[in-house]
Amino acid sequence: MCGIVGAIAQRNVGNILITGLKRLEYRGYDSAGVALLNDKGITRVRRQGKVAGLEDAVTEVSAAGFIGVAHTRWATHGKPSEANAHPHMSGSDLALVHNGIIENFQELKDELQSQGYEFTSQTDTEVIVHLLHQVLETGVDLFGAVQQVVKKLDGAYALGVIHKSEPDKLIAVRSGSPLVIGLGIDENYIASDQLALLPVTNRFIFLEEGDQAEISIDGVRIVDADGDSVVREAHEFDGTHEDAEKGEYRHYMQKEIFEQPAAIQKTLEDRIDSPADLIKAFGEKAPAIFDQVKTVQIVACGTSYHAGMVARYWLEDIAGIPCQVEVASEFRYRKHVVPEGTLFVTISQSGETADTLAALRDTQSPNYVGRLAICNVDSSSLVRESELVFLTKAGPEIGVASTKAFTTQLAGLLMMVLALGRQKGLADSEIEKVLAEMRQLPNLIEQAASLDKPIEKLSEHFVEKHHALFLGRGVQFPVALEGALKLKEISYIHAEAYAAGELKHGPLALVDSDMPVVSVAPNDELLEKLKSNLQEVRARGGELYVFADKNAHVKEGEGIHVLNMPAVPETIAPIVYTVPLQLLSYHVAVLRGTDVDQPRNLAKSVTVE
Ligand code: AGP
Repeated sequence: MCGIVGAIAQRNVGNILITGLKRLEYRGYDSAGVALLNDKGITRVRRQGKVAGLEDAVTEVSAAGFIGVAHTRWATHGKPSEANAHPHMSGSDLALVHNGIIENFQELKDELQSQGYEFTSQTDTEVIVHLLHQVLETGVDLFGAVQQVVKKLDGAYALGVIHKSEPDKLIAVRSGSPLVIGLGIDENYIASDQLALLPVTNRFIFLEEGDQAEISIDGVRIVDADGDSVVREAHEFDGTHEDAEKGEYRHYMQKEIFEQPAAIQKTLEDRIDSPADLIKAFGEKAPAIFDQVKTVQIVACGTSYHAGMVARYWLEDIAGIPCQVEVASEFRYRKHVVPEGTLFVTISQSGETADTLAALRDTQSPNYVGRLAICNVDSSSLVRESELVFLTKAGPEIGVASTKAFTTQLAGLLMMVLALGRQKGLADSEIEKVLAEMRQLPNLIEQAASLDKPIEKLSEHFVEKHHALFLGRGVQFPVALEGALKLKEISYIHAEAYAAGELKHGPLALVDSDMPVVSVAPNDELLEKLKSNLQEVRARGGELYVFADKNAHVKEGEGIHVLNMPAVPETIAPIVYTVPLQLLSYHVAVLRGTDVDQPRNLAKSVTVE
């Protein structure tokens, strides 16, 4: 979704802003712009399309300034176009960038238009900049004007504002949309994601909801939503600049697939030494809360939702705890009955997904005994608003298609299942058995990823296809769903996943020689049933691609392509079997020439409804 970068310094900040925008490209966007202020005033440059085009345009007009704001826009109100791109201006002295949505923009716009303001875009954002202009006309300073204007706004927003008459002030606001302040030496910055600023600083202040900040080269003044001065602690980024680089890989997604053994290792390290240790990773309050849990409600979106679906199988099977899983966009808008003793679990890579956050904020029922976030971003809203947190340690995930976040979420969820199970009397010997299997995960994932070359070869079969079916049974059904999501999101091939037993209840009608059918076949208790389902496909001329345990005896033959997976213990098989499906969609997308890391129409972090 949209990205914000801003900077104030004693040097030209143009390069800091453009570099920052490039580092936010992964979020998904359709246009970009920058406003730079120097002694002569504000120069604004905007372009539809990629940041590289904006960079050329900035060079062409020699735009420069010691203070500036920049933006990548993912269209919500108004089509992708230069006129709708940010920064928006009111007159020639005031420029503003905005992430989020202003829900009451239409009534504000009507009012401003009746007072003579002319709108040059279709965006909701433009009302904010004209409102600011209106208040500034009354003689209030920029920070004061921003504090007055935000009181009139409904919705979610992060803002960056500059004004010609106060060239030593960069104003920032966070309300429902993330924003961090980066601290430099005699220069400071803002961004919607700290990754944007890693080339210039590793020290950050994470604004709280409702915070407004006035930033100069040598200081930061923050007031909270009530206008009271507050001090927010600075934090150092835990990682390196290179964590967010592509390195030797062709795409971030490829790098992130191959990082999975290390990401899982880091996520499990020092956390699974013994059954008694498990609970520590969920926070100090976990023992008291887990003790009261009778049932679990999981809420998430997309890939994170698929992780939740896997967890449901584990929770009921291993810990005997009932579990419901629902996509956040549905859960938040329906009345639901909350059984007594419910643990509310959110799963999110970013921790900023609007629907998941909204669902979390709507958990007032006293029947909830606690809220647990399984999340990859320490500083995210989801983490800050949950009393229990399990941090996945996947490192920055840049590719829009989630890979290492998913497998580390599964590792965390399996730990949660064991920790909850232990509170309910699951024997330590049983837990120890699963922990021993989990310790093999980095190695098994590496073995699965070593199938890269044969999978690349196989991917040639998919390049010309328009549709694909994915099949799995039991706990592998969500893995099939995740495989289908990966293929559709980066290769744009229509893909659906079914629990293999459902095939004959409808989707079998789709199967012919043009329909590749991908299946995951670990050596589990459902293997024989799955093999029968595969026969049903073969009998209708469907071409089968099976990722099968080497001991599963699925035979290669006409129309059946088998890739042998390492022998994997049943419980952890969903984590390992995800990897070949990720690789398959990656290679198909590369062959089809799509934008693997930034697929069309998608955003990495979905911060609007
Ligand atoms: C996954 O490949 C997707 N890009 C998407 O489904 C994603 O998982 C979803 O938007 C949820 O994001 P989150 O994990 O950051 O909450």
